[in-house]
Amino acid sequence: MSVPFLDLKIQYNTIQEEITSALQNVLESTSFAGGPFVEKFEKEFAAFCQSGFAVGVGSGTDALWIALLCLGISQGDEVITTPNTFIATAEAITFCGAKPVFVDIDEQTYNMDPDLLKDVITTKTKAIIPVHLFGQPADMDPIIKIAQEHGLFVIEDACQAHGAEYKGRRAGSIGHAGCFSFYPGKNLGAYGEAGAVVTDNAELAEKIKRFRDHGQAKKYFHSMIGWNARMDGFQGAVLSVKLKHLPAWNEARRKNAKLYNEILADVDKVQTPIEADYAKHVYHIYAIRTKKRDALMSALAEKNISCGIHYPISLHLQDAYRSLGYTQGSFPIAEKCATEFLSLPMFPELTENQIMMVVAEIKFFFS
Ligand SMILES: Cc1ncc(COP(=O)(O)O)c(C=O)c1O
Repeated sequence: MSVPFLDLKIQYNTIQEEITSALQNVLESTSFAGGPFVEKFEKEFAAFCQSGFAVGVGSGTDALWIALLCLGISQGDEVITTPNTFIATAEAITFCGAKPVFVDIDEQTYNMDPDLLKDVITTKTKAIIPVHLFGQPADMDPIIKIAQEHGLFVIEDACQAHGAEYKGRRAGSIGHAGCFSFYPGKNLGAYGEAGAVVTDNAELAEKIKRFRDHGQAKKYFHSMIGWNARMDGFQGAVLSVKLKHLPAWNEARRKNAKLYNEILADVDKVQTPIEADYAKHVYHIYAIRTKKRDALMSALAEKNISCGIHYPISLHLQDAYRSLGYTQGSFPIAEKCATEFLSLPMFPELTENQIMMVVAEIKFFFS
């Protein structure tokens, strides 16, 4: 038996009829770029996120970039985030002309350590982007408090956290804006590229809507210079179908994580993920930590168990961000975690047998 890291086909099989009929509706209405299927999904997703508005865009990267741009982040500004994230978080800052400034992570949650924020705030700081990595929200209360004290925007990178909760509030609904990716492998994944920004701010939502459609509210009347970052109709229709299943899929992920945690508890060379008291974690990624990461990953691969590494090199040590001037040792916790993280197979349809098999091989490796 092999265990894939992720199996999108098995999930598609369970919703095939709903998807086919949704796609057929788009074909028959020819609403391919934006349009009613996107608008329907936007309403449903805003309600799901406990937010006033959702605006569908082309990807999670678009969502972050456009949210920052529409909040006025520009040349010479600084935006604080963590080096323990996918590069898109920092790219969005860079493509506004601003500078990414990193703070190290908390060793329990792997998210931004709020205690470190004060040390890096300058007169140029305009915003903070907490990343809800792996599906667990960052500790938002102290982040929001510091942001309020310094007049900063908070943009949540919720690209891995659809349906996650912070003290009962949905990820994405807490800051000025929340950004989501619907990349196919996400907890809520499109069948192509898509993303969304959620916000309670009607003016911001309207500006993002206009920006994503060449700065026009009315066809060929351009009130601002925008871009083409529309979500396409097929993705809107697919996402509406899949959103109905998301709560059950997230619960299945949580059940799988619980089982992994229980049966890995006696392996002292493995650190399993910790769900913070304030959090409802949705386990987009189930990452363990071990000092023998590379050897364990190879041993599991030999048994046809596929794992991932999220992420092998912290952003401040990537060639692309060498110009920021950070070095090895700048963010010791993020760097240590990057050498120890191993993402085990995780998806809602993963079976108990598959989890047992993964853990049996991990125990065999350490025996
Ligand atoms: C934390 C994080 N931010 C941003 C993105 C970018 O999203 P997309 O791939 O949809 O552009 C991703 C997607 O992988 C992500 O995981």
